[in-house]
Amino acid sequence: MKKKISAILILAVFLMPLCAYAQNQTLIMYYSKTGKTNIVAEELKALMPDARIVEIKSDIGIMQAVMWQQLFNRNACNEPIAVDIEKYAQVILCSPIWLQKISSPMRTIINTMPLKGKQVQMFVVCAGHFGEGGQKNLKKQLTSKEINLKSLSIIKSGNKTDEEIREQVREQLKN
Ligand SMILES: Cc1cc2nc3c(=O)[nH]c(=O)nc-3n(C[C@H](O)[C@H](O)[C@H](O)COP(=O)(O)O)c2cc1C
Repeated sequence: MKKKISAILILAVFLMPLCAYAQNQTLIMYYSKTGKTNIVAEELKALMPDARIVEIKSDIGIMQAVMWQQLFNRNACNEPIAVDIEKYAQVILCSPIWLQKISSPMRTIINTMPLKGKQVQMFVVCAGHFGEGGQKNLKKQLTSKEINLKSLSIIKSGNKTDEEIREQVREQLKN
C-alpha cells in the first residue's frame, strides 16, 4: 500500500510540471493555399521553438472554397483536426485573405473549434490590401465567438521575397 502511494506521489511530482508546461504552450494553427502563410507560420515557430505548429488542410478546390464555402459560410477544412485546443493558453492563427475575408478553412476553425475565452493572435497574409471593413468584420466574427483577439498582424506577400515576408513577421513580434 505504502509503495503504491509513493509511486502515485512520484508520478504526480513529475506529471504536474509537465501539465503546467503544456498549458503555457502556444499553438500555431495555419492554413496556406500557395505557401506564403506557410512561411509566416514557420517563422513564428522558429521564433517560438516551444510552440506547437499545426497545418490546417483543405481538399476543397479553390473555386469552391472561395465561391461556395466562403460566400455561404460552409465548413471548408478537412476534419477531424487532431489537436486538443483546450490544452493551450495562447493560440496563433495564420491565414490568407480571400476577397477581403479570412480564408474559408480558417473561418471554419474560428467557427468550430473551442476557442472561446482564448487569447488569440492573428496573422493574416494578403497580397497588398486588407481594408478597414474586412478587419472590422473579422474582429466582429471573433467577438461573436467570445475569442479574445490580442493582436491582428497584417503581412503583405505581393512582390515580396520569402525573406521579406519573414522580416515582417519578426517586426510584428517586436511590437
Ligand atoms: C481567391 C483569392 C482572393 C484573394 N483576395 C485578396 C484580397 O482581397 N486582398 C489581397 O491583398 N490579397 C488577396 N489575395 C491574395 C492572397 O491573400 C495572397 O496571395 C496570400 O499571400 C495567399 O496566401 P497563401 O500563399 O498562404 O495561400 C487573394 C487570393 C485568392 C486566391
